This record gives sequence, C-alpha cells and structure tokens, in this order.
Amino acid sequence: MMDLTTDYLGLKLKNPLLVSSSPLTESVENILRLEEAGAAAVVLPSIFEEQLSLEGNSLDRDITRGTESFAESLSYFPAYEDYRQGQDAYLGLLHHAKIRAGIPVIASLNGATAGGWVRFAKEIEQAGADALELNTYSLVTDPAVASGPVEQGLVDLVRQVKQNTKLPIAVKLSPHYTSLANLARQLDEAGADALVLFNRFYQPDFDLDQMDVVPRLALSRPEELLLRLHWVAILYGNVRASLAVTGGVHSAHDVLKAIMAGAQVAMTVSELLARGVDRLAIMRAELMRWIEEHEYESIDQMRGSLSRRSVPDPSPFERGNYIKTLSSYTLRATVE
Ligand SMILES: Cc1cc2nc3c(=O)[nH]c(=O)nc-3n(C[C@H](O)[C@H](O)[C@H](O)COP(=O)(O)O)c2cc1C
Repeated sequence: MMDLTTDYLGLKLKNPLLVSSSPLTESVENILRLEEAGAAAVVLPSIFEEQLSLEGNSLDRDITRGTESFAESLSYFPAYEDYRQGQDAYLGLLHHAKIRAGIPVIASLNGATAGGWVRFAKEIEQAGADALELNTYSLVTDPAVASGPVEQGLVDLVRQVKQNTKLPIAVKLSPHYTSLANLARQLDEAGADALVLFNRFYQPDFDLDQMDVVPRLALSRPEELLLRLHWVAILYGNVRASLAVTGGVHSAHDVLKAIMAGAQVAMTVSELLARGVDRLAIMRAELMRWIEEHEYESIDQMRGSLSRRSVPDPSPFERGNYIKTLSSYTLRATVE
C-alpha cells in the first residue's frame, strides 16, 4: 500500500499537496472544494496588520516606532474604524473553516511591527488555527537601512512569536537575501518550524500611454520552480525546520521534484487559478501513478534523494555550475 502521508508543522498530512495563501482559500466553500479535490491542508490569505483592530493609542505608538512602511501602507487600507471588520471576518473564516473542513487550516499573517505580529498571532491561536505562516513580505527602500539589522529583525520576530504562542510557525521567505543558508539557520535556531520558499516578488509595470506606474500580478510559470528546488536542495539536512515549496508548482512532476529536493510539502496557487480547482485532483492522481510506476512505497522514501548532500556530484548547485551552464549554450540555432 503506497503511503502518501507527510509530516509538516507537526501535522500528519494525507499527501504533500497544499494550497497556499491566496483568494482560493478566502471562503469556507472554496476550502471545502479544495479539500474534496485532494488538498491536504490550506493556507488562508494573509491578514495584514493594517487590517487589524488596534486600539487608537497603540496604533499611534506603532506608527511612530520608526516603521515608515507601516504608516505608508495605511493609505491602501480602509479607514481605521473598518479594521474591526477585517479582523472579525478573518477570525470567523478561520473558525468556520476549522468546524467544517477535515483538513488542517494554516493562517497567514503579514505584520509590520513586532507588537502587531505577536498580538494577532495570539488571536489566531485562540481561533483554532492548526499553524501560522508568517508572510514576511516587506520591501526595504531606505538606503540608510543595512541588511544585517533587517535579518536580525526577522529572526527576533520569529523568536517573539514562538515565545508568545504554542502554534507551529512557518516562515515564508523571499529569495532576496545575500546569505540565505545562514538566515535559514538563524530562523531555525529562533524556533521556526518550517521555511516556505519562496514568496513571489511583485514588480509594478510602467504604462507608457498613461506615463504611470501600475501594479501587476502575473501568475507564475513552471520555470519559477527551479529557484525553489535549488534552495531546498541546498538547505535540506542543514536545518531542523521542515521545508515547503511555493512558486511554480504546476504539475505532479513539480511536486515530485520538490520532494526529491527535500521538501515536506509543495504548495500551488497559479495552476488552480488558471485552470481550475479540479487540477488538484488530477495532480494527485498523477502523483500516485508516478510513484506506483516507479515502485516507491512512500513519499518519505524519496525525500531529499536529489538534494545537494545526496547526489554524487553536487556541483550543479554550486558556483562552478555557473561557468558550465554558460558555456553549454550553443549558437547553433542563430548561426544556421
Ligand atoms: C492572487 C494572489 C494572491 C496572493 N495572496 C497571498 C497572500 O495573501 N499571502 C501570501 O503569503 N501569499 C499570497 N500569494 C502568493 C501565493 O501564496 C504563492 O506563494 C505564489 O503565488 C507562488 O505560488 P504559485 O506559483 O503556485 O502561484 C498570492 C498569490 C496570488 C496569485
């Protein structure tokens, strides 16, 4: 009997296919559909600290705490008096999803101040989440801010959230760090239970007709998976935290690659937004077929088999491969 189960964030999941934070998980009905299609767990859309109900005083205090980006981002959100609704609606979604769905529900939080992260993490815990994903998406635009303090802030944040809740904590990272392996180790030591690689970086586009800068959200392409595979393969075995892949997972083969790199789970969104939730059931069926045909007995058996420490020649993960890759390109098509 083939065993598709996998452990993630202390949860025993029926398979390694998760739906990551997105509008797909913003209603209980959708979550039930995803469960029916085979999702082993879902991550709710992120709640942003700016949406939270903060007491007037603490709101002022937080804004003046030097978090310029927090004050700036307030302009994108509804008026302060509407925040309560955002928070209640979110906790309500979590609560009802937990009552009606049979799969684990992971909440997602994007904070802006240390106080905000911790405050809402506690509320999420009380509302019954199985785990919490910290969506650490932020953009440092101030040239006076060096990378060291930014990374230290992230590590401190994880430590604080861990100290203040019993929830298993996943940290969703961006790939844009100078020494990612070191940051991963620090987050691991701070208590992160999982690292989720990677959030996508949404770049605005330029509209030349309007001479304006416009937001742009394009769905991912399968090629984006490679960056994730690369880093999971490097980190596998070097951190205690579980590894999760998000970004570019569009097929059962992508899920298999993520696991062979060393991930506990693979998350998908763009594929389902583009082609419908039923793709999940197809991916799951193809996953089972592949595993059967290749005579594996379990997901655990294949995990990490193509990680940096497992392959006989790890050079494709390292600098030497850069030169090799560049020189492997031939001009045949253009020359002929
Ligand atoms: C419309 C949309 C909304 C998203 N909202 C969130 C969010 O609220 N929080 C978050 O952490 N990630 C969010 N994401 C990112 C996804 O969770 C996921 O990490 C990313 O899309 C890469 O996976 P994919 O290649 O399968 O799409 C969103 C993605 C999309 C397309």
